[in-house]
Amino acid sequence: MEIITRQQRMASVAKKLRRDNLVLGFVATMGALHEGHLSLIQKARQMCDQVIVSVFVNPTQFNEETDFEQYPRDLTADAEFLSPYDVDYVFAPEASEIYGDNFTTFVTVDDISDKLEGSSRPGHFRGVATVVTILLNTIRPDFAFFGQKDAQQVAVIRRLVRDLRFDTEIVVMPIVREESGLALSSRNELLSESDRAAAAVIYKSLQAAKEAFENGEKSSGNLTDKVSEVLDSEERARTDYIALVDPNSLEPVEKVGDDPVLLAVAARIGDVRLIDNVILNEKQ
Ligand code: PAJ
Repeated sequence: MEIITRQQRMASVAKKLRRDNLVLGFVATMGALHEGHLSLIQKARQMCDQVIVSVFVNPTQFNEETDFEQYPRDLTADAEFLSPYDVDYVFAPEASEIYGDNFTTFVTVDDISDKLEGSSRPGHFRGVATVVTILLNTIRPDFAFFGQKDAQQVAVIRRLVRDLRFDTEIVVMPIVREESGLALSSRNELLSESDRAAAAVIYKSLQAAKEAFENGEKSSGNLTDKVSEVLDSEERARTDYIALVDPNSLEPVEKVGDDPVLLAVAARIGDVRLIDNVILNEKQ
């Protein structure tokens, strides 16, 4: 496993691999790696000849300076985490490698970037779309792997890749959870032990709605009320939003029909803001 810090070196290594007709798989991360990231890496390993993982805490997608500064960074621990998994390259650039002097070009995926997460984190998806564009242009992978955990990010990246004709196929992997049901996230490390136990209510609330749906409930209002009821039963939880939307357009769905719909939640447990989701009517 080679660690590459220079953008130009990453681009030339990837170019050579493509010339050698190898299938390139790419997993973008911000480090603080856990089993959720690992599921993407393992899928990449199965599908591709060469696996490239980026570790880059992208400054442009944080809207709060303190959140950016507090984000965990430990490349040595991340490299150690990756060592058993046969990753070929880790791309870990400094911010100045990605955003050089006079950097003024940003990619905005209109409309879907402003909904759900976008309304409490303005500019977040502009930062994500911009860095993903730079990373895809540097590596030009055949496949790039993303987690369903960040369902809106998936919608934004799919739209970006479609609209700007990136020659990369996006592969989306299911949410990896703790035994309690809590979706794995680097932010979980910020929870106290009791808050971590309380955070399991988020998945419980989604499961309750999923169960109601499977028992015939199709109305958005009733399904989101179900989520709300369970979330409210945990006094440490404060709901930010509960939304039943089309997974691609993120437009609200009033009544679940035959197509898959995304039930997404954001809630604070203490000071830590967590997101989670389930798909109803998932096509197998
Ligand atoms: P990060 O939060 O490090 O996540 C990297 C990838 O891992 C994302 O595609 C995310 O959806 C996936 N992931 C995180 N937790 C997961 C879980 N519990 N189960 C399955 N997949 C999970 O998302 C980002 O970084 C950044 O926005 C990035 C795309 C790297 C751009 O900076």
